[in-house]
Amino acid sequence: MSVTVRVPAKVNVQLAVGGVRPDGFHDLANVFLAVSLHDEVTATPSPEGLRVTCEGPDADQVPLDRTNLAARAALALAERYGRRPDVHLHIAKDIPVAGGMAGGSADCAGALVACDALWGTGASRDELLAICAELGSDVPFSLVGGAALGTGRGEKLTALEVGGDFHWVFAMAAKGLSTPAVFREFDRLGEGLEIPEPAADQAVLDALAKGDPAALAVAVSNDLQPAALSLFPQLSDTLAAGRAAGALAALVSGSGPTTAFLATDARSASDIAGVLRASGTCRDVRTASGPAPGATVRD
Ligand code: C5P
Repeated sequence: MSVTVRVPAKVNVQLAVGGVRPDGFHDLANVFLAVSLHDEVTATPSPEGLRVTCEGPDADQVPLDRTNLAARAALALAERYGRRPDVHLHIAKDIPVAGGMAGGSADCAGALVACDALWGTGASRDELLAICAELGSDVPFSLVGGAALGTGRGEKLTALEVGGDFHWVFAMAAKGLSTPAVFREFDRLGEGLEIPEPAADQAVLDALAKGDPAALAVAVSNDLQPAALSLFPQLSDTLAAGRAAGALAALVSGSGPTTAFLATDARSASDIAGVLRASGTCRDVRTASGPAPGATVRD
C-alpha cells in the first residue's frame, strides 16, 4: 500500500519584505500563486525505518538524509502521533531545486499529507497547517495552493480570489541561490535605510481577482530582487531576454534564481519560452499556469 501526493510550485506575485526581526526572520507580505509545475511524493511503509529517495533532472542536488524537508515532515508527524516514522518517501522532482519556487516546501507538504493518509492519523487541516508552519515559512502555502496572502514570516495565510488563469514562463538558472543568503544580502543592501512595514498591494489583489494579466504585470513586485541580482548579476540578462521576447512582466521568483515571465496567454508563453531557450541566458525553460491546487492525494 502506498500514497502519492502531487504538490505545486509557487511564484510570488508580490514579495514585500520588512526589517529583520529578533528571531532572524523577516516580516513579509507575500502574495503566493501556485503554478502547474509539480513534485510528487510517494509514501510507502518501510519496516527498516525512514528512507528518502529522489528522481528527476535535479535529483543529485537533493539531500536524502534527515535534513530533507520531506523527511522532517514525516518525523514531525510521527512524533506528534507517537508512532515510528517507518516510511519510504520517494520524491519525483520536477520543481527546480534552490530555485525560489518552494520546491523543498512542496516536498515537505507533500510528505506530510502522504504520511497522514498512509498512517490514518485523522489530523485536522488546522493541525497539518500548524506542523507545516513549524517546518518552514512557505510550507503552509504548498499545502493549500491556489492564491494566498502570507503574513508574519509568510506562514499566516489568507486565501485570495483569482478570476482566471495566468500564464507564465520560468527560466531556470545554472546554479541555485540560498534563501538565507539572499535575505542577508537584502539586510546588507538596506543597512541604514528605513524599511517600511510590508503590506499587500491592492493593485496586485485586484488584478488577481479580475484575472487580468496586463493589470498584474504592472503591479508585480519583489523586494528580494535587488538582493538576488546583487548575488547573481547574470540574471539581468535573462530578465532582459524575456522582456524583449514580449513578456508582460519579468521578475525574480521569490529569493531566486529562477526568473518568472508573465504572458498574455498560453500561446504567447510558448513563444517567449522558445526565445528564452535560444537566448543562452538560462539552463532550462518551462511554461506553467496558475492558480493550481495545493497538495492533493492522487488516485
Ligand atoms: O522558513 P524557511 O526555513 O523556509 O526560511 C529559510 C530561511 O529564509 C530562514 O532561515 C531565513 O534566513 C530566511 N527567511 C527570512 N524571513 C522569512 C522567511 C525566510 O529571513 N520570512
